[in-house]
Amino acid sequence: MKRIAILGSTGSIGSSTLKVIRRHPDRFKAVALAANSNIDELLLQVKEFSPESVCVIDEKAAARFALRIKNKGIKLYPGKQGLKELISCTGIDRMVLAITGSSALEPLLTAIERKIDVALANKEALVMAGSIIMGKARRHNVRILPIDSEQSAIWQCLAKEDKRALKRIYLTASGGPFRKTSRSLFKKIELKQVLKHPRWNMGRKITVDSATLMNKGFELLEAMALFDLSSDKVSILIHPEAICHSMVEFNDGVVMAQLSATDMRIPIQYALTFPDRLESGFSGIDFCALKSLNFEKPDFKKFPCLGLSLKAARMLGTMPAVLNAANEIAVNEFLAGNLRFFLIPDIVRTVMNRHKNIINPSLAQILAADAWAKQQTAAVIGKL
Ligand SMILES: NC(=O)c1ccc[n+]([C@@H]2O[C@H](COP(=O)([O-])OP(=O)(O)OC[C@H]3O[C@@H](n4cnc5c(N)ncnc54)[C@H](OP(=O)(O)O)[C@@H]3O)[C@@H](O)[C@H]2O)c1
Repeated sequence: MKRIAILGSTGSIGSSTLKVIRRHPDRFKAVALAANSNIDELLLQVKEFSPESVCVIDEKAAARFALRIKNKGIKLYPGKQGLKELISCTGIDRMVLAITGSSALEPLLTAIERKIDVALANKEALVMAGSIIMGKARRHNVRILPIDSEQSAIWQCLAKEDKRALKRIYLTASGGPFRKTSRSLFKKIELKQVLKHPRWNMGRKITVDSATLMNKGFELLEAMALFDLSSDKVSILIHPEAICHSMVEFNDGVVMAQLSATDMRIPIQYALTFPDRLESGFSGIDFCALKSLNFEKPDFKKFPCLGLSLKAARMLGTMPAVLNAANEIAVNEFLAGNLRFFLIPDIVRTVMNRHKNIINPSLAQILAADAWAKQQTAAVIGKL
């Protein structure tokens, strides 16, 4: 029985992970759950899965939650420090990291220090500090098992291959809700259009990132860190059907692809069962019903976040952390109704242009760049 912790259990990935655990109660036990403030959902999860430990990051919500789980024999760890203690004290075999945004960096580093294998959904931590995280994981002999469907696809294609034979990887992208929208109409785009993703049902932040294609830019940086690649070895391809989750090309001209249904439970389950495969309840692809799979080049003019990510990927240093931080604040402001959709890339570009990149940064320098960029972004938006 594998003892699983889910950080971000109340979110889209977190609840899909619990569905996987529900399907295989003989293989997995959810021993720890963590959320930010959604204590109603967390309480439902506690009632069904009876974890040993829970964490509520928001301290006020944690105090309310304490009253609701009184005398239930569950250990409550409140706040950020509590999350660290939960990771250290619960006895976890595999940790699913499904917290959104830069807040995932600290718990990821804690899990690695505690020698816990991480099934990683969060991408922002790798964007910020990819080489530091992967270096630390190697030193502590910890496995980072990707949940993100594209990274999971590449991981599966590379599993038994000699990496020296790898020529390039193709990251596929559905193209988001505005693939066919004319650039001239971007100024009119409203929040409810952005939140309607054509293929995936996800949390709000990643749904916005998928509409700007920043999400694909983040995946470029994520893939570079996970598979130790330079930016020129990664190509992005629009693939509207979202059936082929990514591909790997080898030096003999062979291309390997991973295809499956468009549902995150498949890569989540694989990150939990690896190196085994279990039945998932999903059947394979009905190729005759599908008829065709389409691929096209991404439009860098319509989606400037792609170019900004590529720039950060070529520069590395502290620039990817600045890209991530500026985007995080801009997206939050857009979700709060304080910023127009089309301005997100302009804001990110302005902050990146102001940044003096530091090559081979320490973790402290990355965290300082993150804080600086968040403050700069808030100031730029404040002046609009
Ligand atoms: N959704 C997908 O299909 C998908 C696919 C690939 C990768 N990812 C990545 O996985 C991560 C999670 O995505 P999601 O779609 O599941 O997001 P989501 O639905 O917004 O869920 C986020 C989870 O993180 C918690 N959380 C938010 N802020 C937090 C903080 N400061 N500290 C601790 N916990 C916090 C939330 O708690 P509350 O509910 O209490 O707010 C919630 O449980 C993101 O990095 C995303 O890029 C997602």
